[in-house]
Amino acid sequence: MLVLDFGGQYSQLIARRVREARVYSELVSHRLGADELRARNPAALILSGGPASVYAEGAPLADPSIFGIGVPTLGICYGMQLMARELGGAVEANDVSEYGKADVELDGTGALFHDLAADQVVWMSHRDSVTAAPTGARVTASSETTPIAAFEDPEQGLYGVQFHPEVVHTPQGQRILESFLYDVAGVAPAWTPAAVIEEQVERIRAQVGSERVICGLSGGVDSAVAALLVHKAVGDQLTCVFVDHGLLRENEAEQVVETFGNHFHVPLIHVDAHERFLARLAGVTEPEEKRAIVGEEFIRVFEEEARELSLAARPESARADSGRTTLGDVRFLVQGTLYSDVIESGGEVGVAAKIKSHHNVGGLPADMRMELVEPLRSLFKDEVRRVGEQLGLPERMVWRHPFPGPGLAIRIIGDVTEERLAILRAADAILLEEVRRAGLYRELWQCFAVLPAVRSVGVQGDERTYAYPIVIRAVTSEDAMTADWARLPYELLDAISSRIVNEVPGVNRVALDLSSKPPATIEWE
Ligand code: XMP
Repeated sequence: MLVLDFGGQYSQLIARRVREARVYSELVSHRLGADELRARNPAALILSGGPASVYAEGAPLADPSIFGIGVPTLGICYGMQLMARELGGAVEANDVSEYGKADVELDGTGALFHDLAADQVVWMSHRDSVTAAPTGARVTASSETTPIAAFEDPEQGLYGVQFHPEVVHTPQGQRILESFLYDVAGVAPAWTPAAVIEEQVERIRAQVGSERVICGLSGGVDSAVAALLVHKAVGDQLTCVFVDHGLLRENEAEQVVETFGNHFHVPLIHVDAHERFLARLAGVTEPEEKRAIVGEEFIRVFEEEARELSLAARPESARADSGRTTLGDVRFLVQGTLYSDVIESGGEVGVAAKIKSHHNVGGLPADMRMELVEPLRSLFKDEVRRVGEQLGLPERMVWRHPFPGPGLAIRIIGDVTEERLAILRAADAILLEEVRRAGLYRELWQCFAVLPAVRSVGVQGDERTYAYPIVIRAVTSEDAMTADWARLPYELLDAISSRIVNEVPGVNRVALDLSSKPPATIEWE
């Protein structure tokens, strides 16, 4: 199922909703021509909404022959207007725009509205309206302000809705999309996590053959799921390298080793490199410098391990002249690239890709010419999680909050030392334990402790103390671009605070961060 993106704010959402209906969908540029679309052999097309007016200069248009490729096509909002414009109908600007909830009346004949009550609440967001349906199409829904709120031409396989079935404010929206997919396009809801696994396993086998593969594990869900998929496909041809930089949270390193080494029996090299990282971070207080150091060192360690692995796989004779080794013996590298990183819509690389680029710790050194294996390339994050669950990954790993590559180094303001790491780790573990106990972990985007570089006066027993505060940072967010501070219950905050000051030596005060993003960021550095 292909969704042509005309720049609407909900384009991605349409693709996701289709996938929620267990039909595989991809978001593609509206610039794809009929031949290119045909070559991809879609079961159906959806044309998204868009901010422009179809008659405006420079408005994103579609190749008119896409309507003749012989698959059912659904136009939503702008997409519907485009159909009207191209296929003998008409579109006109309204005096006032229509935003928000609207009541539409169904005429009872629409295949999209099969089994729905005649009165429906829908979400509208448009200025122009279709004033004449395409030649041969029948109007199937109308509202007071929008007499042509939907049309259908089953002969030509053309369907249009002025409202947005993909948003939650259209209560029956998902059913409408499902009617289009299942009844009109005749697609079966077969795209399940199990099907994804099966397909990816086949692809990986075809790509990798009998070659060796290496994968860097970070403890995060993406690299974990990618590694498990590859392991399922090619077994012990895969070696995972877990570079433990010593900047993870409590028990995380152990969990990686336990899960991959002991539970899934994935060949795993656990590199305890914490001393190296700490040595390089000593005295460094500038956040971007910390990031650069961790990123650089990470690649260096990973590369060393990969070279070792290559050498180990070579016969003795070949090792003798290996002054300049290449990774010839390990040809493939697994990366947990996600669909949101690669989406190209409307001809522009997705915003997500740009924002994330500096976050990718596992970046490839230029001279490591390995071919990438990217089994998550077609998946959104929540789909990766479902695949992870299906593969039997522990709940903690599947639902882990995002964690920055430089780890605790950017949650310790100022100098990163063994002592300060221990303080932060202990406080953070208490915070997470209490949040989990309160059943709130999954409702939060991220929740963590920060260790500032100041100390303050306190009193414990009869003693004056001069110790660090811990800051609680808990946020809700959809995508980390914006975030709001989480309203944690007072009782929970109370429990966290008293446990931290009582149980973590070196801390005498707990503060709560009440800032949203913007103007603050989620992390403190
Ligand atoms: P900020 O602090 O910019 O964070 O609001 C947005 C999201 O990105 C994560 N983040 C990072 N992730 N390396 C990463 O892998 C980094 O250097 C980094 N800095 C921030 C942060 O945890 C949040 O999810």
